Amino acid sequence: MDGQSTAAAITTGATRASEVAARVEGLRKSFRSGDAELTVLNGVNLFVQRGELVAVIGPSGSGKSTLLHLLAALDTPTSGTIYFDGKALNAFSEAERAAYRNRSIGFVWQRHHLLPDFTAAENVAMPLLVNGTPPDEASRSAQRWLHEVGLAERAGHRAGELSGGEQQRVAIARALVTGPQLLLADEPTGDLDEQNAEAVFALIQRLHGLHGLTSVMATHNLALARRCNRVLALEHGTLVARAIAAAPETQSTGNQG
Ligand SMILES: Nc1ncnc2c1ncn2[C@@H]1O[C@H](COP(=O)(O)OP(=O)(O)OP(=O)(O)O)[C@@H](O)[C@H]1O
Ligand SMILES: [Mg+2]
Repeated sequence: MDGQSTAAAITTGATRASEVAARVEGLRKSFRSGDAELTVLNGVNLFVQRGELVAVIGPSGSGKSTLLHLLAALDTPTSGTIYFDGKALNAFSEAERAAYRNRSIGFVWQRHHLLPDFTAAENVAMPLLVNGTPPDEASRSAQRWLHEVGLAERAGHRAGELSGGEQQRVAIARALVTGPQLLLADEPTGDLDEQNAEAVFALIQRLHGLHGLTSVMATHNLALARRCNRVLALEHGTLVARAIAAAPETQSTGNQG
């Protein structure tokens, strides 16, 4: 392991390259507005091991969404490198980036971003149709995933008619229908009441076990974060390992963003 990797491993404890799904080295991201430059990520190092469910916490504005967007190749870093399966994202062609976003990554947003006038099944099938899967096969996969998230009987309902918790479960099915290697979830329970937040998180945990998923989840909910395999906190633009005390269960970082 080289010096840089050793430094990164201190944050995460990962050692074997074959176990690493994603690796981030010296990631920096600045935004310019007028004359001012805001540096949000200032040297983030991270390993995500296969099969891990990693929580990223930090106050509102600390850069959680920025980090997830970079991991998903929805944005490009100012400097630093993200490796996925050992390949540097910044070396990808536009077509490779599109394929990476569509097939390798599943993304769940705080607000579900479903198409409200389409059925649950149509929403879940959409990423498969986009990547050229025949409609019959896409439809079968969508039905199977709706079954997995406990919504088989809602397949024909318009997404806009579903409850917030149901919509988020559909969004999880849509994120996983392409069989991504990395699930990125940006405050997936942030818009839900406690009971639905618990149900959605329990679903993510269950699917993790069943499908050997690898996930990074940004959250303000410390009670849920501590049930993940590892908790990392964004502090002053860098990621640090964090242990969270057991109680109280209602603890949170205090910001809902
Ligand atoms: N496209 C952009 N242009 C300019 N500034 C941006 C842009 N995207 C994010 N920022 C700024 O970067 C900082 C980090 O934002 P980010 O959304 O990553 O925070 P967050 O940790 O996800 O916060 P929250 O918990 O509220 O969702 C904020 O100050 C935000 O205003
Ligand atoms: Mg955010």
